[in-house]
Amino acid sequence: MRLIVTDDHAEMSRVAGRLIETAIQLNPTAALVVATGNTPLQAYQELAQLVQQDQVDVSQLRPFQLDEYLHVPATDPRSLFGWSKRAFLDPLQLPVEHMVRLRGDVADIPGACHSYDKAVEATGGFDLAILGLGPNGHLGFNEPPTEADAPTRQVTLTQTSLTSNAGYWDKLEVPTRALTCGMRHLLAARQILLLVSGSHKRDILWQTINGPVTSAVPSSYLQQVSNALVIADRSAWPYP
Ligand code: GLP
Repeated sequence: MRLIVTDDHAEMSRVAGRLIETAIQLNPTAALVVATGNTPLQAYQELAQLVQQDQVDVSQLRPFQLDEYLHVPATDPRSLFGWSKRAFLDPLQLPVEHMVRLRGDVADIPGACHSYDKAVEATGGFDLAILGLGPNGHLGFNEPPTEADAPTRQVTLTQTSLTSNAGYWDKLEVPTRALTCGMRHLLAARQILLLVSGSHKRDILWQTINGPVTSAVPSSYLQQVSNALVIADRSAWPYP
């Protein structure tokens, strides 16, 4: 695991945008799994600008959804597929059909998880995982405790995640259950980019980087992955 510390959120986003653009230039058919949440929003904007300016071809990219709430259709404002569309697909002008979905709005949830895992395997695994850090160390919705080889599955959200996700919408209730891409696929990605911003992430980032590797802090598994890069801003990592 490596760490880059930037002055602020804007610089974190610029560095991340540039790194993602480079990864796409080197591999235009890259399979990438893209986080929702607030942290990567500006990085996706930066990426879109660079792609436009440098005329990078993104038409062959294979983006994958990272997580989804259970029983929330794509038309619901809380849909994470909808979030991925607005945050990632739209700025890159990619049609929605481009994304491999993790569907929480179908009757057969184990089947949806299985077909997602099959799609990840068929593509040869992720070339790049763009992740944010949950307040309890979750990656995607791999809530603690999560084993390193956990498959894509349905999970029950912890109170910590419910509370933090409540900040995304006015008044709407946060669904208590969700689907997440398995830890196994995330850790096997050929490149992992973890974006962390803000003083509220300071303690969990410290545990991620310096704490014991434990299922109680799923992000701590990244310590064992040589191709994981954390880009944190100074407020999340104020240490020399
Ligand atoms: C959310 C999502 C994650 C996201 C993380 C951090 O609950 N399930 O995919 O990366 O928590 O979110 P934020 O970037 O808003 O802090």
